[in-house]
Amino acid sequence: MKTVKGVAFVKTKSVQEGKNGPALFLDLVFKGAQPESPMLEYPSRMWDGVDRVSSEIGAGELAYAEGQEIVFNGETQLRLTRISPLKATPEEIRSFIPRGTVPVSEGMARLKGYLESLEDPCLKAFGLTMLDDPEIVEKFPLAPAAKKNHHASVGGLLEHTLEILEMGHRIAPVLGLNRDLLLLGLFLHDIGKCWEISSSPGFSYTDEGRLVGHMYLGCEKIVQIARRVEDFPERHLRVLQHFVLSHHGEFAYGSPVLPATPEAMAVHFLDNLSGQINAMRRVRSQEGDHWGYEKNRGAYIWKKGSDPSSWDQTPMGQGNRKGFEP
Ligand SMILES: [Fe+2]
Ligand SMILES: [Fe+2]
Repeated sequence: MKTVKGVAFVKTKSVQEGKNGPALFLDLVFKGAQPESPMLEYPSRMWDGVDRVSSEIGAGELAYAEGQEIVFNGETQLRLTRISPLKATPEEIRSFIPRGTVPVSEGMARLKGYLESLEDPCLKAFGLTMLDDPEIVEKFPLAPAAKKNHHASVGGLLEHTLEILEMGHRIAPVLGLNRDLLLLGLFLHDIGKCWEISSSPGFSYTDEGRLVGHMYLGCEKIVQIARRVEDFPERHLRVLQHFVLSHHGEFAYGSPVLPATPEAMAVHFLDNLSGQINAMRRVRSQEGDHWGYEKNRGAYIWKKGSDPSSWDQTPMGQGNRKGFEP
C-alpha cells in the first residue's frame, strides 16, 4: 500500500452516517511531484475520530493529510489516517486550482473569431451581443465546464467550447449542416454553467445552479440577449433554446427535449465527445499503474492505449496465445 502525505486542497467535504458511526468524505487535491506535473485528486475517506476533525476541516481550504492509497470498487481512494487544518493565503489556495490550457485573452479572441465568421446577420448579431454582455465578459473566461468530470478547471468552459467549435467548423461541410446554427448552438450549449458552478476554489454549485440548473439559466440568458437584438425573430429564439435544452441528448441525462434538428444532434455528440475524451485524459494523467478507473462511466482506461511504441512487441503466435494462427 502506498502512503500519500502532504499539503492538500479540500475540494469537497461531507460527513455521512455509516454502520459504525459518522465517516468523513473528502475530495483532496495534491500537487504533483514536479511543478509541471498534473494535480492528483483523491476521493478520501476517514472513519476514526471524525467528530473531532470534521469541524476543523472546511471545503475550499488547505489541510495536511496522510493516508494509504487503496482501491475500492475499482477506484483509487485515500484511506486517511490523519488530517489537520492549515492556515493559507488566498494565493496559496489558488495555486491548487487546476487551470485550463488555453490562455484567456487568446481563447476569447478565437471565440470572437468564430462568431464573427457567421454569415446570417441575425445569428451573428446575437452571438456577438452575447459575447459582449458584461456578465459573459466577466464569467465565461473563468468558468469551469464541470465540477469534476471534464474540463474541471478555471477556463475549462472556454477550452471545451473552443474544442467543439473547431470540430463543428470542420464537420459542418462533411455532414451538410448549417454552419451558422451549429457554431452558435455549440457556443450557447453550456453557457448557463457561468451561473451554475462557481469558479472559486472547489467549483461548488451555486444556489441558483442547484435550484434550476445550467439549461434553464442558459435559456434565460438567451431571452435576455434576444431582446437586445433588433427584430430578433421568436422562432430563432426557440431554436437557440432548443440547442441548450437538447444537448444532453437523452431524457435520462436531464434533457427535457431530444435533439430535433441535425445541428442539435451534432451539438449533443460533439459536446459528449469533447467531455468523454477530456475525462479519459484526466484519468490517464493520474499516477498509478497502466490502468486507471473512470468512475463516471464505470470504465477502465488503458493509459498506454494511444502509444503503440509502448505496447508489448512479441510477434504473433509467440506471446500468451502460443500457436495462435492469425
Ligand atoms: Fe450541459
Ligand atoms: Fe458541454
